[in-house]
Amino acid sequence: MIPLLLLFFQQPWGTTHAGKPVPQFTDGEECLFCHRNEIGAAWQMNAHGITVNEKAGTEEFTLGSRNHVRRLKKAGYNKFAIWESGWNETKFGDRCAGCHTTAVDPATKSFAYYGLDCYTCHGVVDLKHSGDTTLVLLSKKRRNEDPVINAICASCHLRGSLSKSTKLPYPNNFVPGDNLFLDLQVDWAQADNADLNPGDRHVYRSARDVEQKGSTTTCINCHSVHTGSSERHRRVLSSAICNDCHFEGQPRKEVRKYTVRSIICEYP
Ligand code: HEC
Ligand code: HEC
Ligand code: HEC
Ligand code: HEC
Ligand code: HEC
Ligand code: HEC
Repeated sequence: MIPLLLLFFQQPWGTTHAGKPVPQFTDGEECLFCHRNEIGAAWQMNAHGITVNEKAGTEEFTLGSRNHVRRLKKAGYNKFAIWESGWNETKFGDRCAGCHTTAVDPATKSFAYYGLDCYTCHGVVDLKHSGDTTLVLLSKKRRNEDPVINAICASCHLRGSLSKSTKLPYPNNFVPGDNLFLDLQVDWAQADNADLNPGDRHVYRSARDVEQKGSTTTCINCHSVHTGSSERHRRVLSSAICNDCHFEGQPRKEVRKYTVRSIICEYP
């Protein structure tokens, strides 16, 4: 009796910071003061950290680093203009900032830092964590919160989503730990879209399976962010998403070829 009723009135998990002020958080410089040895060196080359990078000797910045690059320059307090056929002063804030810079205030569309700082994944970190690592998200002792971890990666990687409150194509003040999906409208049909290439589709499918089907295989079962490696995916024995990239019944070394595309990031 009761379980059925509960099903109808079940509250979604977690909280949201949509519409609230950006919280105070510790910046990466301070984190690296203590974590320089294990994190610092590789962080200088991590695609997340350098997704926006200052171009030495110029007034300009680069957006992207691996396959596609765009030009940026400062345009007011913690805002960028993006180059198309001329400098566009509004587009970066309206369409890009939330996933390529840190702690964007949706009201002003200005960021706290350019590039992605520790906060974007680890959230507001209690400095008492140095004595008790259960206090910090994504620590070795906090790997079992699958929907929470999933929401962190999904906050940027489900490209094509829309904030219900701002109508912007990126989350409204998402703070790691939050339930992203209370404010972000996601087109989950992409998870089964046979026309989508495997590289893009596996992200949707992985996020959908964790959020809606109770899968316990999150992005970080396969990806290691700090080493930039997907080596550990070989240890995942099976998951519905293997055949996005491999072929059913064939040796795993056979891999589907794919090229990641994105209308949102303008490399369709
Ligand atoms: C705040 C936004 C944001 C969050 C949160 C985020 N990513 Fe990313 N991620 C990006 C962006 C932007 C890039 C591309 C950077 C570039 O090339 O300029 C990227 C690139 C990547 C890449 C390809 C580059 C590489 O290093 O191999 C992987 C894999 C990846 N992210 C996995 C993850 C996982 C796993 C999580 C969750 C733990 C996560 N990301 C969280 C924005 C984000
Ligand atoms: C919803 C979050 C989101 C928004 C909004 C967004 N990006 Fe991205 N962007 C990403 C992620 C995630 C990646 C990495 C994807 C991957 O490698 O699979 C990325 C990668 C990139 C890259 C590097 C790709 C490469 O392979 O080297 C460029 C350049 C880029 N984005 C430009 C833009 C521009 C320009 C805008 C705004 C017009 C924008 N992005 C808006 C999330 C976003
Ligand atoms: C894009 C998401 C992301 C960003 C940004 C990020 N981290 Fe992490 N961090 C992770 C994930 C995921 C883990 C869990 C281990 C793994 O999968 O790599 C982790 C683990 C760690 C660990 C524990 C090491 C371990 O082996 O478990 C430390 C320390 C750490 N991060 C510090 C930092 C610092 C300092 C910064 C900023 C300079 C930062 N992280 C930025 C995602 C991120
Ligand atoms: C005053 C020093 C100090 C500062 C500042 C600091 N940490 Fe830590 N952190 C530690 C110590 C000590 C540990 C526990 C030992 C270890 O695992 O490195 C730890 C552990 C961690 C872990 C878990 C590692 C594991 O083994 O599971 C993560 C993740 C982490 N810190 C992230 C951060 C982030 C992100 C920041 C910035 C917001 C930060 N730390 C700031 C000292 C610090
Ligand atoms: C079952 C393992 C697995 C899971 C779960 C998984 N991935 Fe992947 N992902 C991979 C493998 C393997 C690759 C290919 C890496 C390569 O080519 O070296 C990849 C590639 C990527 C890329 C790189 C695309 C590019 O630019 O070339 C991104 C970004 C990414 N995954 C993000 C995610 C995110 C975000 C999640 C969670 C929502 C996720 N993945 C879940 C295994 C997985
Ligand atoms: C996003 C694409 C992607 C997904 C999803 C994916 N793989 Fe892979 N897999 C690759 C790529 C690319 C390689 C070759 C490079 C490498 O080792 O990372 C590979 C290699 C492997 C290898 C090593 C094969 C050999 O003989 O060298 C194994 C084992 C493997 N995958 C298992 C799996 C399993 C099990 C799953 C599902 C849980 C899975 N993969 C999901 C892309 C993927």
